[in-house]
Amino acid sequence: MSQVGDTPSRAFDLDGQVVLVTGSSTGIGEAIARLTAAHGAKVVVNSVRSTEAGQRLAAELDDAMYVQGDVSLPDDVDRLVEETVARWGRIDHLVNNAGTTQVIPHHDFDALEPDVWRRILDVNVVGTFLMSRAALAHLGENGGSITNITSIAGLRQVGSSIPYAVSKAALNHLTKLMANQVGPKIRVNAVAPGLIKTPWTADWDEAHARVAETAPLKRSGVGHDVAVACLGLMVSEYTTGQVLAVDGGVTLRG
Ligand SMILES: NC(=O)c1ccc[n+]([C@@H]2O[C@H](COP(=O)([O-])OP(=O)(O)OC[C@H]3O[C@@H](n4cnc5c(N)ncnc54)[C@H](OP(=O)(O)O)[C@@H]3O)[C@@H](O)[C@H]2O)c1
Repeated sequence: MSQVGDTPSRAFDLDGQVVLVTGSSTGIGEAIARLTAAHGAKVVVNSVRSTEAGQRLAAELDDAMYVQGDVSLPDDVDRLVEETVARWGRIDHLVNNAGTTQVIPHHDFDALEPDVWRRILDVNVVGTFLMSRAALAHLGENGGSITNITSIAGLRQVGSSIPYAVSKAALNHLTKLMANQVGPKIRVNAVAPGLIKTPWTADWDEAHARVAETAPLKRSGVGHDVAVACLGLMVSEYTTGQVLAVDGGVTLRG
């Protein structure tokens, strides 16, 4: 824990700290893994299917390992945390970035079968909770943080589908509910991205064009934009229970 008067330039130092980023083989998670590694962290890279990409990324970073696992499966969650602790003996920061969706127009209620709801809520909400609970036992010792990657779909009537938007609204609230319970050593915050250029949104040309036209900052985000906000929250030792929109200002316009 830093003290009043610490040199400001050292505020982002993660030397020796262990950061576990779920869903980090590509996109936003990859950017968070790269940025935290660049600030001295030991990083756990995770994904479910894209194992080669995850292994490649871990090999590229200074001190990282790849662990395959689905955050919605309790056994995988336990293994992810156990392998991290077995390797480095601690976890300092958990970033719950893994997420899934299905693109369904909001008016199409008939397409919202129970299986669609269950898969999205299972990964996005239950997975985030399971990861957080499993990591909590290790986060407290040195003071630590959980950062949930949510979405402005959890704040506005937008997003790739209603179940996705509902899952992200649930995560924004889970962030506050957990933050209210796990202090003083552990903080829980969320970053709510707007439209970010990742493999997930690679063919969303119309949406990218709309954001470039309407957002005050006149462009979609990139993974690094989210990673910087995430790193900021990780090291903000007097901030908990907050949801930070990283959206180029698009929510200012409706
Ligand atoms: N891109 C955007 O515009 C945007 C906006 C707002 C919020 N977000 C949020 O940001 C996060 C990352 O999105 P992205 O755009 O970077 O997506 P992405 O490029 O598709 O990456 C998703 C990552 O999550 C992993 N993943 C998916 N399901 C998983 C599970 N059950 N367990 C563990 N890992 C899993 C994927 O691994 P596999 O390849 O192995 O499946 C991949 O590594 C998501 O939570 C998303 O909701 C994105």
